[in-house]
Amino acid sequence: MRFSSSPSSSWTASLALLSALSSLSTPANAVKYENFKTCAQSGFCSRNRAYADKAVAAGQSWEVPYQIVPDSLDWKDGQLIGTILKSINTKGDTVRLPITISFLESGSARVTIDEEKRQKGEIDLRHNSIARKERYNEAEKWAIVGGLELTKSAEVSKDGKRATVKYGPEAKFEAVVTYAPFGIDFKRDDVTQVKFNDRGLMNVEHWRPKVDKPKKEESEGEGDQKPIQDAEPEEDESTWWEESFGGHTDPKARGPESVGLDITFPGYEHVFGIPEHAGPMSLKQTRGGDGNYNDPYRLYNADVFEYIVDSPMTLYGAIPFMQAHRKDSTVGVFWMNAAETWIDIVKTKASHSALSLGIGSKTDTQTHWFSESGLVDVFVFLGPTPKDVTKAYGELTGYTQLPQEFAIAYHQCRWNYVTDEDVKDVDRKMDKYSIPYDVIWLDIEYTDEKKYFTWDPNTFGNSLGMLKQLDSAERKLVAIIDPHIKNDDGYPIVDELKSKDLAVHNKDGQIYEGWCWPGSSHWVDCFNPEAIKWWISLFKYDKFKGSADNLFIWNDMNEPSVFNGPETTMPKDNLHHGNWEHRDVHNINGMTFHNATYQALLERKKGELRRPFVLTRSYYAGSQRLGAMWTGDNEAKWEALAAAFPMILNNGIAGFPFAGADVGGFFGNPEKDLLTRWYQAGAFYPFFRGHAHIDTRRREPYLAGEPYTGIITQALRLRYSLLPAWYTAFHEASVDGTPIIRPHYFEYPGDEAAFAIDDQFFVGSTGLLAKPVVTEKAESVEIYLPDNELYYDYFDYTTYTGQGKKTVPAPLEKIPLLMQGGHIIPRKDRPRRSSGLMKWDPYTLVIALNKAETAKGELYVDDGETFDYQNGAYIHRAFEFAAGELVSKDISTKGKATDKYLKSMKRVGIEKIVIVGVPKAWADKTSVKVGSGEAMMEYHAGDGSKAAWAVVKGPKVAIGEDWTISFA
Ligand code: GLC
Repeated sequence: MRFSSSPSSSWTASLALLSALSSLSTPANAVKYENFKTCAQSGFCSRNRAYADKAVAAGQSWEVPYQIVPDSLDWKDGQLIGTILKSINTKGDTVRLPITISFLESGSARVTIDEEKRQKGEIDLRHNSIARKERYNEAEKWAIVGGLELTKSAEVSKDGKRATVKYGPEAKFEAVVTYAPFGIDFKRDDVTQVKFNDRGLMNVEHWRPKVDKPKKEESEGEGDQKPIQDAEPEEDESTWWEESFGGHTDPKARGPESVGLDITFPGYEHVFGIPEHAGPMSLKQTRGGDGNYNDPYRLYNADVFEYIVDSPMTLYGAIPFMQAHRKDSTVGVFWMNAAETWIDIVKTKASHSALSLGIGSKTDTQTHWFSESGLVDVFVFLGPTPKDVTKAYGELTGYTQLPQEFAIAYHQCRWNYVTDEDVKDVDRKMDKYSIPYDVIWLDIEYTDEKKYFTWDPNTFGNSLGMLKQLDSAERKLVAIIDPHIKNDDGYPIVDELKSKDLAVHNKDGQIYEGWCWPGSSHWVDCFNPEAIKWWISLFKYDKFKGSADNLFIWNDMNEPSVFNGPETTMPKDNLHHGNWEHRDVHNINGMTFHNATYQALLERKKGELRRPFVLTRSYYAGSQRLGAMWTGDNEAKWEALAAAFPMILNNGIAGFPFAGADVGGFFGNPEKDLLTRWYQAGAFYPFFRGHAHIDTRRREPYLAGEPYTGIITQALRLRYSLLPAWYTAFHEASVDGTPIIRPHYFEYPGDEAAFAIDDQFFVGSTGLLAKPVVTEKAESVEIYLPDNELYYDYFDYTTYTGQGKKTVPAPLEKIPLLMQGGHIIPRKDRPRRSSGLMKWDPYTLVIALNKAETAKGELYVDDGETFDYQNGAYIHRAFEFAAGELVSKDISTKGKATDKYLKSMKRVGIEKIVIVGVPKAWADKTSVKVGSGEAMMEYHAGDGSKAAWAVVKGPKVAIGEDWTISFA
C-alpha cells in the first residue's frame, strides 16, 4: 500500500485500510483499474474512436468535412497561413479554422490549427464559468525554448488544388498541402514519410450552444439524447456537456472541444516514444488482436497505484513525441497539446506506393491522436537518422540538463530515514562496508506533520549537524517537497499562499481544497509567475531554516496527485493562472512545479550560482531541462525489473534520458537475488537510486549479507569507476539530445533485426554494450551483436565476434557487459566513498582494439558543479589509437575560463592505459615512448577465447594536455 502507516487523517486511514483489504483479495496485480478511465469511459476518447470507426466503415464513401479555402492561403516569411472550413451540416453551414503551417530554419515543420470563434472569444460559457474561452495556446510557453526561427529559403508553389513547399536542408523536404479534403504529405527525397489526415480522421469539435431537450432531468435513455433542432442529428451528445466518473462529475463549460488527427507513417514498422507507459519500447497496436492492446496509449499524468508492467494505461509523465523508424530512415512528430491525450496505433500491410518504391518494409504504421481540448499543434521532423530527429526535437524543447556530477552517482533513499541520527548511522555504515554513495534522501516524514520547509523537531532536530557530517565526505541530502501545501492554521507557508492568492482555484475562483499526504491541502499554482517568485523565496537559507548548500530537492505528487480527486488528480474545471481550465494544462502542471523548484535552487544565496538537482515524478516535453525523473511506484518483482529498461529507453528517445527506476522495487520486499540483480541493472540507469516503501524492511546494501553485499558493492564500484564515461555521455546528451543509454536502432539504423531490442543497449558513445540480467535464476544471457566487430567481455576480455546472438555467462556476480572493439573508455579506478572525493583522482584509459587495431574515444570533464563550463571551464578530449600511436587532442572551444580551469587540472593525469586485443607481436614489448620519455608496459597473453592485453603504467601525461604515446 502506498499510504503512510501514520496517516494524518481519518480519511487517509480509511483509504489505507481499503487498499490493504483489496490487496489481500487481489494479491497478484493490485492496480486499481477502476480508478482510471478506459477509452470507453472517456467521452472524447469514445467520440474520436467512434468517428474513426465510422470512417473505416464508410470506406471510399467517407466524406471528410475539412477543406482549405484556396484563396485564403498566403505565404509569408516561411509560413503558409489560411483557413480550413469545416462543414457541419447538410445545409452548407461551416466553421472557420485558422491554420498556420510554419517551416523552420532547423528543417522542422509545424502545423497549428485553431478555431476562429473560440479564438475571438465569440462563444458563451455554461454554468457562469469564468474560464478562458480560447483554445489553450500557451503550451509553447512552457515546452519550447528555441528553434522557432522561420526559414528564409523555402520555395512555395500553388495551384487550385494544393500548395507545395520545398524546405529543409538542400530543399530535400517537401510538404504537399492538399485543399479538399484537407491533408498534408511530408516527403523527403520525394518519398512520403508522414501523412496528416490521410485516413480522414481529423476532428475539431467546434463550439456550439447547448440546445435544451424537452425532458431535461430524466434524459438518461438514449432516445432522449437527440437535439430537437439543427445540426448533425445523428451525433451522440451524451458526453458533450458533462460526464461522470468514479463519483465525480465534470461539467464542461465550453462543451465538446476535442481535437483529433490521424498521422500515418508509410513503410514504417516501428514507432517509439510517447512516454510514460510500462510496456515494450517498440509500441504495440492498440485496436485489439493477438498480443495487442485494446485501448489507445493514454497521456494524462496520474498517480497510478501499483501499476502493471505491460499496459497503455497512463502513468505519471507525458511526452507526446513519437519516432517512427524503418531501415535507414527515422522521422518524428511532436503533438504539442497539454490536455488529456490518447493515441491509437494500427499497423497495416502496405498496399500502396511505399512498396512499389522499394522502401523495404511491408508495413504502414497508422496513428490517431486526440486531445480533449486545445489546439492541433504538431511538429514534424523528417530525420533521416534517429539522432537528427532527437536533435531537432531538442532544438525546440531543450536538451537534457548537464547535471552536477554527484547526481549521476548512487543515491540511497527510502521512505523513510527516521531521524537525523538514523541518516548519520546509514552514512557511517556505508563507509564501514566500503560502499560508495553520494546522496541520501529524506521522504515526507522528515517534516513537521507534512508541512514542507519544516523539520520534525522530535526526529530531525539537528538537520544542520546531519548535513555537515554528509558534507565531510562531499555527500548530499535530497529532501522531498511536494506541491500540496497543508491547510493548517498557523503554518506561515499556507498563510502566505492564501493571502498572496497563489494557489490553484476551483471553478468558482476560490482557492481549491483537496486531500493529499497532509490531509486538507492547497496547491501552489506554478503557472503563475508570482507564485514562482514566491516559491523561489522559500528556498533561501534564511527561510528554509535548517537547510544548507548540500541539500537538494525531490518533487513528487506533481501530476498533481489529489487523493480525493477524479482519477486521483484535480477536477478538470479547476482554474489556473489566467483562468485556464486545468483540463487544458493538466499534462504541463508537473513541469511547472519542477521548473519553479529548479529556479529556486539556482541561487539560494546571492553569488552561490550552482546547477540545481531536482527529481520529478511528473513531466512533459521540456522537463529534461530541469533535472531527472524516475518511473514511480514499481513493485519488487522480476517483471518490474524487466519493465524498467524499455521505459527508460523510451524516455530517452523522447528527449528525457536522465531517468531511472526505484532500485529494489518500491512496493514489497525483494528477495536477495532480485535486489542484487536490480543493483546491477541500476548501475546502468542514468538516474541510479535505491528506494523503498515505508512498510518494507530495511534494505541498505550492507544488510543483504554475503555474497550479496559484496556483489552489490561491485556493481556500485563499476558505476563509480565509469563515472567519467557516464558524465561524457551526459554532456553529449546536453548538447544534442542523444540518449544516454541508447537502443540499437539509434546506433545501427539499418539493422532491421534489432529495431525492437529493448533489453540491451549502448552506454553513450563508449561502445559499452550492456544487458543486465532481469530474469530470475539466469546463468547466462543472449547478447545480440549488430556487426562483425570484436566484442570483449568487460571483466575478463573473453572475445565474441560475428553478427547475431552470443551466449554470455551471467552467474549472479556477473553483469553481462561487452566492449565493442574500436573504442576508448575513460575510467577512474581508485575506490572512494563518494564521487566528490574522486575529483582529483587520475584516469585509466581502456582501449578496446577493433579488427583494424584502431580505437577512438572521448572524455568531457568540468568542475561538476557550477555553470563555469559555459565560459569554457572544461576539458574535452578526443583519444585516438592508430598505427601504434595513442594521441590525445583537444576538441573543445576555448572560453574565457578555460586557462584557469586547465591550470587547476594540471596535476590530474593518467595512471594507467589498458589495451585489450593486442597482437601477439607485442609480447616482447616492455615500454612505450611518451614524448621524449618512456613508460613501462606489461603484456598479458590471451588464453583460449580471451584476448591478449597490455597495460601501460604511469605514463605521466596530464588529462588536459595534448600528447602522443608511441607503442611502435
Ligand atoms: C509516492 C512516491 C514515492 C514516495 C511516496 C511518499 O508514492 O512515488 O516514491 O516514497 O510518495 O512520499
